[in-house]
Amino acid sequence: MGRSLICISNLMREDEILSALKRGARSTSDIQRITRAGKSCGRCLVIIDSLVEDYLAQLPNDPQKRIDFEI
Ligand code: FES
Repeated sequence: MGRSLICISNLMREDEILSALKRGARSTSDIQRITRAGKSCGRCLVIIDSLVEDYLAQLPNDPQKRIDFEI
């Protein structure tokens, strides 16, 4: 996790996608809109879907814990 390249077409790394999630992205289409990931050939969309799903699964329900998690 971290600096691995996820979107080869647009040179977007995993940490850039994680950063978008921390800033409020909640779907693959949000990631596409906020970053350039997944906006060309689409081969990375499955990986982005997985990153979004994993992130949302870890997101606490408690609003205060959520703020701490997203910082
Ligand atoms: S690898 Fe991400 S759009 Fe092509």
